Amino acid sequence: MTSISGKTVLITGGASGIGKLMGRRFIEEGAAHLVVWDVQIQAMEQLEAELGAATQCRISTFAVDLADGERIRAVAAEMEQGAIAVDILVNNAGIVTGKMFAEHSAADIARTMDVNTLAPMYVARAFLPGMLARRSGHIVNIASAAGLVSNPKMSVYCASKWAVIGWSDSLRIEMEHDKTGVAVTTVTPYYIDTGMFDGVRSRVIPILKPAYVADRIVGAVKSNCIFLRMPWLITLVPLLRGILPARWFDKVGGEWLGVYHSMDDFRGRK
Ligand SMILES: NC(=O)c1ccc[n+]([C@@H]2O[C@H](COP(=O)([O-])OP(=O)(O)OC[C@H]3O[C@@H](n4cnc5c(N)ncnc54)[C@H](O)[C@@H]3O)[C@@H](O)[C@H]2O)c1
Repeated sequence: MTSISGKTVLITGGASGIGKLMGRRFIEEGAAHLVVWDVQIQAMEQLEAELGAATQCRISTFAVDLADGERIRAVAAEMEQGAIAVDILVNNAGIVTGKMFAEHSAADIARTMDVNTLAPMYVARAFLPGMLARRSGHIVNIASAAGLVSNPKMSVYCASKWAVIGWSDSLRIEMEHDKTGVAVTTVTPYYIDTGMFDGVRSRVIPILKPAYVADRIVGAVKSNCIFLRMPWLITLVPLLRGILPARWFDKVGGEWLGVYHSMDDFRGRK
């Protein structure tokens, strides 16, 4: 069990969406210091005003574009100089273009991979030495069900999340082999109603509620859960992909469950 009471929690992309809701939940669970990294400066000011007034928890925000590896290193160093030691890191920020692969520019591809895949590695790399020295810590990586299933208009996003899953769980095994005291949780939710995927349609599998997802993730930290897949049906995806011939999986997952048409009317965030 990981206790949250008195801990310092860093959430990337914590100014809105499930990141903001997780921040709230960590505070309710007794976190002593909430640190948020995001590009939305106004949203972070609003978060400080909203949450800061209602809690004893210290709140710090940093303007960080996670596509900028230098900025990640600089802000991590600034925090170290300010004696802010991160106990729980939630790599949450993510972006999606929602386009066919042929419509992507090189910059679209690079930015998606930078924010969704490289940034979680760089941020973990920056705070892991402190966790290892203290022999305690928890790293939560928010991947996606899109890291388990292929989907049109999501190719680069899928690639970025498949990579996160492979890296995140390998990191977990390293931490366990060396008995470091650092836990790693990999999260693979289906669509969540935050606005990031505005316009998607899901024929069979229900779109998740943001507060429910935030609650489950904080619960997964407390119980040291290795994989959190939501909803439960997502647990079957690796099994079905493994045992069904590809064309059958296309029929079952893609067509009958409607996943391959879920992005047809994607609008996303403006
Ligand atoms: N919404 C979904 O349907 C869904 C489903 C599965 C997984 N996820 C994943 O969950 C995570 C959170 O998603 P959400 O729905 O809350 O998204 P959101 O768009 O509501 O919030 C994402 C946050 O990340 C921040 N962000 C984006 N780019 C950034 C950058 N370059 N640097 C710093 N911050 C940046 C945004 O400002 C925002 O505060 C993402 O990793 C996403 O891929 C989302």
